[in-house]
Amino acid sequence: MPSSALCRQMEKNARPLAPSDHVGFDSLPDQLVNKSTSQGFCFNILCIGETGIGKSTLMDTLFNTNFENSESSHFEPQLKLRAQTYDLQESSVRLKLTVVSTVGFGDQMNKQESYQHIVDYINTQFESHLQEELKIKRSLHNYHDSRVHACLYFIAPSGHSLKSLDLVTMKNLDSKVNIIPVIAKADTISKSELHKLKIKIMSELVSNGIQVYQFPVDDETVAKINANMNGHLPFAVVGSTDEVNMGNKTVKARQYPWGVVQVENETHCDFVKLREMLISVNMEDLREQTHTRHYELYRRCKLEEMGFKDMDSESKPVSVQQTYELKRQEFLAELQKREEEMKQNFVQRVKEKEAELKEAERELHVRYEQLKQLHTEETSELEEKRRMLEEEMSFFSKRKAAAELLNSQSLNNKKDKDRKNAGFW
Ligand code: GTP
Ligand code: MG
Repeated sequence: MPSSALCRQMEKNARPLAPSDHVGFDSLPDQLVNKSTSQGFCFNILCIGETGIGKSTLMDTLFNTNFENSESSHFEPQLKLRAQTYDLQESSVRLKLTVVSTVGFGDQMNKQESYQHIVDYINTQFESHLQEELKIKRSLHNYHDSRVHACLYFIAPSGHSLKSLDLVTMKNLDSKVNIIPVIAKADTISKSELHKLKIKIMSELVSNGIQVYQFPVDDETVAKINANMNGHLPFAVVGSTDEVNMGNKTVKARQYPWGVVQVENETHCDFVKLREMLISVNMEDLREQTHTRHYELYRRCKLEEMGFKDMDSESKPVSVQQTYELKRQEFLAELQKREEEMKQNFVQRVKEKEAELKEAERELHVRYEQLKQLHTEETSELEEKRRMLEEEMSFFSKRKAAAELLNSQSLNNKKDKDRKNAGFW
């Protein structure tokens, strides 16, 4: 019987019993709290928003500290993500906080590249967690979990609605991360415009099928407040670490010639709502959702991509061992197929080469025969010419001899004549 079925069977058979005296397992929740407190927690926030929209200021305001911030320029050749990790402590609780911020978001011509970098970053963090889980020697308890737990998406207060870059980025991220949209610099927009903008943003998110993080309403201790807060999304926030004296107390605020915007005043903006929802009430749910929903989806797709599955085509459970064996067999068969293909390729190539060589040999032979023929013809032509020359030479010699004879005869005749003439006289 498979182990899950066995567990269900055992659960059914479990007999309810009440110990007659105090045993002590009611301290289990305390043990968990103590253990978690001593281990510390980690939380990772990703801030996405155009350059100068107020990301760093809001982080400083949220955690009441001064993180290392450096201004980005509008001329980054491509989007970058800057991650910084800090150790924070409140009472006895230690929090390892990582703030990841976009640098140069929306400043490039190619908008697709912008969100692709963010998707890649989120996937890389999931991948390193998966690799740690798959290791033989795992050390998940002291492994620094860098998966993004919350993504604050900063919406510019200046437009009438979301930009196409906002929609496409959120659409590509909503299955990977908990998106909390915020309207940045909410002090720069009038109350009625803000109201309209909020409604417009939410309707655009719905009509584009974008799933933003909903504060959970299944835990009754926080169901009421969370349900109420879901109705205030997206939060309109103002950030500032400047302290301003208001009556007998100092408050964080932004001071203008016409008045003061108090960051923590709920009639001025939703900063307190965001802080409460993000940090005090739902931080653990954000961590849990990241692990059970987003990471689980990544892990499932990745393992399926690698060929692992829980059920075979006949809906029978498949163990990792079986999948491994199957994959091994497939790999060996593939290897053999490739070897066979290579061998056939080799034979084919040899045959082709042989044919090529034979053709070259034949061509050479033909050429040789042609040359031989040419040579024979030229030789016989030369022979003919020599014979004719020899004939000419012998004819010439004969003529020369005849001429010489004729010449000597006429010379003799002349001498005889001369002699006769001389004797006669
Ligand atoms: P980069 O990291 O350079 O992209 O900028 P950023 O998004 O971190 O913005 P940052 O927090 O550096 O703020 C940029 C400017 O906006 C600063 O002058 C802030 O004082 C101002 N600012 C930040 N928050 C608010 C806000 O809520 N309202 C108004 N009016 N100004 C703000
Ligand atoms: Mg910044």
